[in-house]
Order: sequence, then structure tokens, then C-alpha cells
Amino acid sequence: MSEKKRIAVLVSGGGTNLQALIDAEKAGKLTSGEIAVVIASKPGVFALERAAKAGVEGICVERKAFSSKEDFEKALLSELSARKIDVLVLAGFMLVLSESFIKSFPDRIVNVHPALIPSFCGDGFYGLHVHERALEYGVKVTGATVHFVNEITDGGAIILQKAVPIPEGISAENLQQLVMKEAEHILLPQAVELLCAGKLKRDGRRVLITE
Ligand code: GRF
Repeated sequence: MSEKKRIAVLVSGGGTNLQALIDAEKAGKLTSGEIAVVIASKPGVFALERAAKAGVEGICVERKAFSSKEDFEKALLSELSARKIDVLVLAGFMLVLSESFIKSFPDRIVNVHPALIPSFCGDGFYGLHVHERALEYGVKVTGATVHFVNEITDGGAIILQKAVPIPEGISAENLQQLVMKEAEHILLPQAVELLCAGKLKRDGRRVLITE
């Protein structure tokens, strides 16, 4: 069996998607990769507590501690290379990474977005806003997307998507919870396992799942 890929999970908040990855690894559903480190962009976020509880190393590389994005990304890269990281998972990571940073991990950075891309995505579509906009628009179906990260916000090739029908009269807060439970927390571990197992092949923008 080939060696497990070393995964870094980048977070900025509560970390329920991180928890889904931790649980998947524990349950034997994520077997081709192991969570080697959790990196937070701000101190004190709950995701770091989740990492500690799971016995996973958690560190903080704070954007505010650096005067430029370039210096911040240099620090991030050095933490990643010190730990020989193969795959990066953005799980509620609130910063946009530069094109040159992304090029250091070609097709090895994935993000989870709480909508069916290309709807309700791009700049300004984060957190609760995504769900508020979906409800305002009146769509009947939303969902989640796991995609490769490229230089365009939410613009990389799509790996997996799952639809969630929107119950009538639901609030944005409850819709956010529903999409997490029914889609994000299921899709993200699946996509990470496929990537770590080398089962994703690119055909232009299309991502094919191979056996
Ligand atoms: C999720 O909805 C994710 O799709 C988005 O940010 C949220 C993070 O939630 N990118 P959590 O920190 O994983 O609980």
C-alpha cells in the first residue's frame, strides 16, 4: 500500500468541516491520507480546540502578524514544508490565497463551498451571506461543492457536488446548518479521500473519478 498523504487543514472558525474530516479518519473512511496539522489564520478559534481534542497538532499563522500577504504566505509555506504536507484542505478558511502560493500545490488544494457553484459563489459569498442570498433569490435547491482551488474565488474545477432541497420558510441560519449536515460534512471527507487515493483525474475543467 502506498504511503498516506499528509494533510493540512486550514481553518478560521468553528471547524465543523474539520471535525467531519477527523471523524472520517477515525471511522476508517479517510484512509489514504492523515490529518498532520491544523493551521488557523487567527488565534483562539474553536477549530484549534477540536484539533487538540483529537490529538492533532494545531498551530496559528496569523495574517495580522505579517505586514504583507507575501510574508504571511511565506510563513505558511515554511510551516507546510517543515511538515512535508502533500494536500491542503480549506475548511472555512477566510483568506484568499495568491496565485503563486496556489501554484506550489497544483491540484492539491481543495475548498468546500456551501452552495452549488456557479450559483451563490465568488467574492462576498461567504458564511451566512451565501444562504441569505439563496433564500432571497428564491431557489428551491441549494447544496455544497468541493472544488480545487485556483486563482479565482470559488472558481476552480469541481470535484463533488450534492444538492439539498430548501424547506419552505427555513431561516438562513437553519439552512446553513442543514447544508453542513446534509452535504458539506459528507462531501468533504469523500473528496479528500478520492484526492489522497489518487483517484481524481483532470480533463480540462472536468474532474473525473477513476477506480
Ligand atoms: C462552511 O460553510 C464552509 O463551506 C465555508 O465556511 C463554513 C465553515 O464552517 N467555506 P466550519 O468552520 O467548517 O464549521
